[in-house]
Amino acid sequence: MTAAHHRTGARHAEALALYRARELGVIDRVATALVTLEPCNHVGRTPPCSEALRDSPVSTVWVGMRDPNPVAGGGIARLRQMPEGRDVILLEECPALAETHRACQALLAPFATRIIRQRPWITVKQACDGKGSMIPPEGKTTFTSQNSLEIAHRLRRASDAIITGIGTVLADRPRFTVRHVVDHEDRAPRLVVVCDRQNRVPDSWREMMIGSGYRVIVSHDLTEIPGMLGDHGVNWAMVEAGPVLLAEIDRLGLWDDWLTIRASHEGPDRCSVRAHSPSPLRFILAEGINPLPADKAAF
Ligand SMILES: NC(=O)c1ccc[n+]([C@@H]2O[C@H](COP(=O)([O-])OP(=O)(O)OC[C@H]3O[C@@H](n4cnc5c(N)ncnc54)[C@H](OP(=O)(O)O)[C@@H]3O)[C@@H](O)[C@H]2O)c1
Repeated sequence: MTAAHHRTGARHAEALALYRARELGVIDRVATALVTLEPCNHVGRTPPCSEALRDSPVSTVWVGMRDPNPVAGGGIARLRQMPEGRDVILLEECPALAETHRACQALLAPFATRIIRQRPWITVKQACDGKGSMIPPEGKTTFTSQNSLEIAHRLRRASDAIITGIGTVLADRPRFTVRHVVDHEDRAPRLVVVCDRQNRVPDSWREMMIGSGYRVIVSHDLTEIPGMLGDHGVNWAMVEAGPVLLAEIDRLGLWDDWLTIRASHEGPDRCSVRAHSPSPLRFILAEGINPLPADKAAF
């Protein structure tokens, strides 16, 4: 039985999996729970998952990562608490499963970054032609393959906010919609933050974005954006901007991972990732039927 936590306020994954097992009448056969994140131990919008597991026949719980949220933490201790404590195995204590632990850290990096640093995980996406230029040919807004476009749109789908520059808005009038893959249903509006110190955002573009369900925010100060997005509850923000803003973001160190997609005339596009810690980009790149060649060891 598998389950995921889809949105704030909805059942957490372990509670949903147990619910489904009960619905299907197989709850008595459930003995082991594998969870990416420590089960929560507090009453928030949903009841504590530690209690849901204690109220079930589950005897062993494998935990991918401790909860970075101090309010929700304590689930491991509660699960172990006697009487009838459960066996809890933490991946961080299993050297043979270090890569799986790293995958859990990568998966949860956006959430953990907001909880610990009060700002989102920030991914820069940069596309270059064979000569390293980011500027598309006259009359075009892209030069990468369909496969690369799908990767870019999977990243958009995963993100809660897009950071861009006024140069890109004026040159491309980007829509920033998720078109090359199917978007999540009924998701909350994404934010688009435009770095624009002279208030040049065209009204027509702003209206188009609002009409497409986005919230548009203009920022005069790039350094304030991460904290502001954290205040809006953004877990994962991506940067889609031109060379001027990317140079500033790099200079200020305002990124967590950096995806570069290089177009090639001779073969498929290639992508590379730089990251300071386990990066969720591994899941974006691994999806789909034709993942791009990438140096996985780097992230
Ligand atoms: N290949 C790709 O991945 C990709 C992606 C997006 C866009 N592009 C291309 O890039 C081109 C546009 O690039 P660009 O470099 O001119 O524009 P840009 O990087 O999108 O935006 C530059 C603007 O960002 C603002 N800015 C810079 N530093 C800032 C700071 N510290 N705080 C607040 N605002 C700041 C400045 O606004 P002010 O002028 O108001 O100071 C600056 O004009 C287009 O041709 C587009 O097609 C390529």
